[in-house]
Amino acid sequence: MNIAVLGTGIVGQTVGKKLVALGHAVSMGSRDAAHPNAVAWVAAAGSGARYGTFANAARFGEIIFNCTAGVASLDALASAGEANLAEKVLVDVSNPLAFEKGKAPRVIVEAESVGERIQRALPRTRVVKALNTMNCNVMVDPARVASGEHDLLLAGDDASAKRAVEALLGTFGWHRFIDLGGIAAARAMEAYVELWIRLRLTLETSDFQIAVVR
Ligand SMILES: NC(=O)c1ccc[n+]([C@@H]2O[C@H](COP(=O)([O-])OP(=O)(O)OC[C@H]3O[C@@H](n4cnc5c(N)ncnc54)[C@H](OP(=O)(O)O)[C@@H]3O)[C@@H](O)[C@H]2O)c1
Repeated sequence: MNIAVLGTGIVGQTVGKKLVALGHAVSMGSRDAAHPNAVAWVAAAGSGARYGTFANAARFGEIIFNCTAGVASLDALASAGEANLAEKVLVDVSNPLAFEKGKAPRVIVEAESVGERIQRALPRTRVVKALNTMNCNVMVDPARVASGEHDLLLAGDDASAKRAVEALLGTFGWHRFIDLGGIAAARAMEAYVELWIRLRLTLETSDFQIAVVR
């Protein structure tokens, strides 16, 4: 499958690398047509990898991963172009974090989550919030925590898009999914990340995950 990864940070690089390893053709998009991170990532990732602008990548991808900073995601997706994203599944991995020197990052909680705002800005795109509630190494290798026995949360208005994301993430090793319903649930998923950050500081590891016990 042709897949777009928007964002050149550690998440874009890690998710993109996994997708290439699984045999997909992956285009990494950024606001800079030849971002140094993207150029280095392509050199390391191999023949299935390419880079370009947000718009180049979005046009290429049949499915899109939004791995940009949450505070910039709406701008990044506007650059990607509404037409290039229309009718496609967009996996929103982003979190709206505020950074202040000497303090733990905070989640910017607004009336609407980033996931909801993306869906509102791009009504023809099928937005699925997923993967934002864990570290990127766990996203691509769930077995590194509790032999993979934990839950992946997801939310989105389009049921078939969620099933498509589950199928793709199943190839990463995911087999437990909790569908929280419509994209409105993205607000709770983003808000949780402030607790994730506190757990990270307390546990001194990023290798942990949510496992819901009934
Ligand atoms: N790190 C994790 O394990 C983790 C886990 C769960 C979720 N997340 C979320 O996943 C996303 C990616 O995280 P990350 O740690 O890889 O990197 P990040 O530093 O949060 O974001 C990196 C990307 O955002 C782009 N960006 C920043 N400001 C921009 C703007 N004004 N316009 C367009 N693009 C802009 C950067 O482009 P430039 O390089 O050009 O600035 C870069 O491509 C974030 O939303 C993060 O909260 C991260």
